[in-house]
Amino acid sequence: MSDLKTAFSEAVAAAFAGLGLPAELGRVTASDRPDLADFQCNGALPAAKRAENVSGKNPREIATAVAEVLKADPRLAAVEVAGPGFINLKVADTALAERADAVAADPRAGAETLANPRRVIVDYGGPNVAKPMHVGHLRASIIGESVKRLYRFRGDTVLGDAHFGDWGYQMGLLIGAVCDENPDIKAEVERLDREGAPLDAAIPVVFEKITLADLDRLYPLAAAKGKEDPAYRDRARKLTAELQAKKPGGYLLWRRFREVTQVALERDFHALGVDFDLWKGESDVDDLIPGMIADLDKKGLLVDDQGARIVRVSRPEDKRELPPLLVVSSEGSAMYGTTDLATILDRKQSFDPQLAIYVVDQRQADHFEIVFRAAYLAGYAAEGQLEHIGFGTMNGPDGKPFKTREGGVLKLADLIEMTRDKARERLHEAGLGEDLPPEEFEDIAGKVAVAALKFADLSNFRGTSYVFDLDRFTSFEGKTGPYLLYQAVRVKSLLRRAAEEKAEAGPVHVAEGAERDLVLTLDAFETALSESYDKKAPNAVAEHAYRLSQAFSKFYAACPILSAEPATRASRLTLAQATLKQLELALDLLGVAVPERM
Ligand code: ARG
Repeated sequence: MSDLKTAFSEAVAAAFAGLGLPAELGRVTASDRPDLADFQCNGALPAAKRAENVSGKNPREIATAVAEVLKADPRLAAVEVAGPGFINLKVADTALAERADAVAADPRAGAETLANPRRVIVDYGGPNVAKPMHVGHLRASIIGESVKRLYRFRGDTVLGDAHFGDWGYQMGLLIGAVCDENPDIKAEVERLDREGAPLDAAIPVVFEKITLADLDRLYPLAAAKGKEDPAYRDRARKLTAELQAKKPGGYLLWRRFREVTQVALERDFHALGVDFDLWKGESDVDDLIPGMIADLDKKGLLVDDQGARIVRVSRPEDKRELPPLLVVSSEGSAMYGTTDLATILDRKQSFDPQLAIYVVDQRQADHFEIVFRAAYLAGYAAEGQLEHIGFGTMNGPDGKPFKTREGGVLKLADLIEMTRDKARERLHEAGLGEDLPPEEFEDIAGKVAVAALKFADLSNFRGTSYVFDLDRFTSFEGKTGPYLLYQAVRVKSLLRRAAEEKAEAGPVHVAEGAERDLVLTLDAFETALSESYDKKAPNAVAEHAYRLSQAFSKFYAACPILSAEPATRASRLTLAQATLKQLELALDLLGVAVPERM
């Protein structure tokens, strides 16, 4: 059974067609005036101007004729013409009840699946090896995880790929800096090089003293030095080129960097409820690069440019000059764009995606435009199959990208910890979860923290920047993640009580206004989903989750459930079950998990 909006769109379209008017004008939307109607169709206005309107009726006359036909539809309680020719529809209570029963019985809570599913890659998160993840990666992870879940839920075959930054200049910088500081490591690197050690050899014991904390400390120092000192920079570039050429000493040390970073990353992502299908990195496509370069060369796309090799991607119609793709630097290194291009090739060969969605900071828009054009030129993807989904920044109270009090970028792990602390405080303030075992309380605090961060992010359109406000994000009141969790938990506890009292759910009857509103809100899930899917923007689903919680809250206040007489109680329990299922599904699509109780 489709949603009511679709069902009535079909009915109104048929009525238009029956009058010889274009069926596509029969589209209905939720009413602008919920006090007067549930749905409306504005198609009579454009219809009057169409050639098919041979009798020359004005919009009101057309709307009246359409309304006459619709009045025979038993699913409609009222059909009215308003203003210049708006058709207002009020759904019959029986039709609402039938829809509510269908949503309650449907494991997908009323959501449709795609007629033509695709193979889709979502490239998101994008952490860098050796550099700790910072809040800039937070949005990529949160939005990407949600987009991945949405696409999968609609029926696409989706792979989420973390695409680690593990093969660039920062690696050469770190190899140099670590060797400078540790003569024993330097000696071991030299020995491995001399002996031509195999690349898959066990990581030498002396390398094991290198921890993530060392990398965190050394990276900013080395990066700053590289900016000031050309000789230092050149050495880092040379070490990067040697790493990419698989010189054993640096390569094995790099493996240690990757190892310690991966452990920390997995922990951070886990805490955030973010999961990848592919934990691939830039380095994974290294073997494809020589063949790709030969291929680009053969296709006549590669141009020599002062010792470097580039692909020109600008087009005559460009309003501003787009720089070329730098494929091989003058030191012979593969660049960020090179690995991205090779990754497109790799994905084509292994998965052949019909769409690749890159969820990355808006500031990388040019980078992706350049890479995508090069891929289209080389035939590694068809025009339009690669899409960059940019997003704004998370800002501090000063309106600039969020920083710590000391002025540095806040690490993701610290942000999560900070939010958890606040969540515990909030739970205590609200007197929630305090009687539960400590491990369960901790689990709840973690879920509240994740809900707070994710909902605050996803409830805005991804393109907009927002201000980080932990007090507001973690509040149990207002449009927040914790509020939604609290509402969902309330429904769970109601249903638990019903089960204890052996109260059973049964067919829905709609009588009260709050019941009507709740069913209409349940019905709107499909619209929200398709909007989020099409725009690759989870905010419509976030908004839906909020509206559903509010509609339930009003229903719960207005309509007694367990104390109602049996048929009414059964009907209301079905409504509560349908709400919980849909709310949990919507929250899951946002990457938010609901605790059993709090
Ligand atoms: N590692 C990059 C960064 O931190 C983001 C990677 C995004 N994905 C990609 N395919 N380039 O900026």
